[in-house]
Amino acid sequence: MARRRTAVLVSGRGSNMAALLEAAADPAYPAEIVLVLSNRADAGGLARARAAGIPTAVVESRPFRGDRAAFEHAMEAELLGHGVELVALAGFMRVLTEGFVARWGGRLVNIHPSLLPSFRGVDTHARALAAGVRLHGCTVHLVSAGVDEGPILAQAAVPVLPDDTESTLAARVLAQEHRIYPAALAWLAAGRVRVEGGIARVAAPVAEGALASPLPDAPALPTNRAEG
Ligand code: GAR
Repeated sequence: MARRRTAVLVSGRGSNMAALLEAAADPAYPAEIVLVLSNRADAGGLARARAAGIPTAVVESRPFRGDRAAFEHAMEAELLGHGVELVALAGFMRVLTEGFVARWGGRLVNIHPSLLPSFRGVDTHARALAAGVRLHGCTVHLVSAGVDEGPILAQAAVPVLPDDTESTLAARVLAQEHRIYPAALAWLAAGRVRVEGGIARVAAPVAEGALASPLPDAPALPTNRAEG
């Protein structure tokens, strides 16, 4: 099967991008990373992508003076110029317009550092600690018009420990982000995801049969169920 041409959008250090690049280094992985795009020229993820030999592009938002649609059209010129089919947001810290989300609907995926729908927005780890939750985690979801909203593809939960700080909790969550994002992008790229009534269903891969789990190498953590 042809690999789906995928862009990763980053604003910062790019550790999730690196996890996706590592997964996609396997020719059997169903997504091929053909572009890493950032809205910040100083994003650490760009240097990591260049070091891996992946084409990069920078579209700064500042020159567009708050005209988000114009900024997104400039980004889309890069995406279309690279023949991109799927877009993976990996710490991309700009809110996208409804128009962009509609044009890329079903082909636009995001990772968020909380168990959605809890803790949308920023400072998720500090807010989880302040709320006293005992479980925290991360979510990969298809992007719909609301911020940090859309059909959930995968989640992983971690315990919140009594002596956790924001950084120890963030590190525990990030390790899970690096595990579930490559898995969820693979399901999408392989055409295994369909959305019914706002709920994403992930079909089992044909070759693995009815008993296959969507995360076959993973310990028993909460994930979306497989069908089949
Ligand atoms: C990740 O924790 C990601 O979940 C979060 O930004 C971090 C980026 O780290 N994304 C969001 O908060 C989006 N709402 P990375 O650059 O090392 O992947």
